[in-house]
Amino acid sequence: MPQNQGDLKFLTSFYHCKSFNEFEFKKNQLITVKGGKIVSIQEASGDIDSDTVVIPGFMIPGFIDTHIHSPQYVFTGTGYDLGLLEWLQKYTFPKECQFDDLKHTRNVYEKVVSKTLKNGTTCASYYATIHPHSSLELARICVEKGQRGFIGKVNMDRNSPDYYTETTESSLRDTREFVKNVLGLESDLVVPCITPRFVPTCTSELMLGLAAIAKEFNLPIQSHLSENKNEISWVQQLHPESETYSHVYYDHGLLNKNTIMAHCIHLEPKERELLREQQVGISHCPNSNFCLHSGVMNVRRLVQEGFEKIGLGTDCAGGYSPSLMDSMRQALIASKVIHIESRNETAKEQFDALHYYHVFYLATLGSAKVLNLDHKLGNFEVGKEFDALVIDMSGIDLFDHDDEYTRFEKFIYLGDDRHIKQVYVQGKQVI
Ligand code: GUN
Ligand code: FE
Repeated sequence: MPQNQGDLKFLTSFYHCKSFNEFEFKKNQLITVKGGKIVSIQEASGDIDSDTVVIPGFMIPGFIDTHIHSPQYVFTGTGYDLGLLEWLQKYTFPKECQFDDLKHTRNVYEKVVSKTLKNGTTCASYYATIHPHSSLELARICVEKGQRGFIGKVNMDRNSPDYYTETTESSLRDTREFVKNVLGLESDLVVPCITPRFVPTCTSELMLGLAAIAKEFNLPIQSHLSENKNEISWVQQLHPESETYSHVYYDHGLLNKNTIMAHCIHLEPKERELLREQQVGISHCPNSNFCLHSGVMNVRRLVQEGFEKIGLGTDCAGGYSPSLMDSMRQALIASKVIHIESRNETAKEQFDALHYYHVFYLATLGSAKVLNLDHKLGNFEVGKEFDALVIDMSGIDLFDHDDEYTRFEKFIYLGDDRHIKQVYVQGKQVI
């Protein structure tokens, strides 16, 4: 009998996380998928049906990139000689302004979505550009290629170059139109995301207007926060009325449980308190933080303080890799830097480095929590959507002493897109 799209049965082993510290390996499981959702997970016993797909390697949940700039893909892997503010002026804005051209947009955005899917990103929170039609094109491409996306039309109405800026009025008008057009696609894969670039490029009036649109349509919000020391001083000069950088967003109605903030490296204790209270999701982008010399974010401290919504982002082109596998490894290195520094005699607190299963959590369930999608995505549970990767370890040498856990640890440290053989989103094979 022909199967309906999204109706599948797999015999597979899998790895997934149930929380930051709960990593699980399940051997020989029968996963049944109906209408793109997992309807049962059972230990395999006895004979299997002929329509069951036997997976020779293992499965993991799809990776979720909580922060990536689609237009910046054109210069990803170049231009890492400058810090954030100079990098934006010299490399970023001149390239982003070219996306008023729809042909250029389609050419680049098809490559971004294909490349990230191939690397196992089943869901991404994207920043496009200030151009509403070009940003809508990104949403269309995600739908065509079967990737989930939060799609952000970027807003910037101050401190932006003449060739790449908006008026407050046009920014708000274009955002409304963009939101309606994305919702008009009527796809459950894509969601419009309100995207003030960051405080320095958004007037108070714009931020307030964007908060109102987010509220009216109940939309997620994404922005950058506390990435670079010069950026932080600039924000303090622009907004002496607000207690901290985080409070500027809060004072303009942009900080709540639907907000995703990238970086959050240099936060003061009272900012961390505010972000935790407001249940803001934090996108850790370690590759970018190293490449733009921004700093080293301390994931352990946030976890110790009770943050639950922490995930990973590639932040292309601030980061040079579009792969969450790279992001996981850079997060491991960042945590090792924090650990080493915390052993200095002058350090006040000690922090353990993260383990491979912690960064795997961040790239899957943690990121799902950041996007408030953990009821649907992030691990293999009955009722959740089937977004999964089929992993084949060929090419990574294993030895007699290797067990299920060291095998997976090797995958985290040594794996790449060559080991991601199939990609499923909502039960549909997209790679
Ligand atoms: N802050 C404001 N814009 C950007 C951007 O495009 N990339 C990064 N990493 N930080 C930003
Ligand atoms: Fe960014």
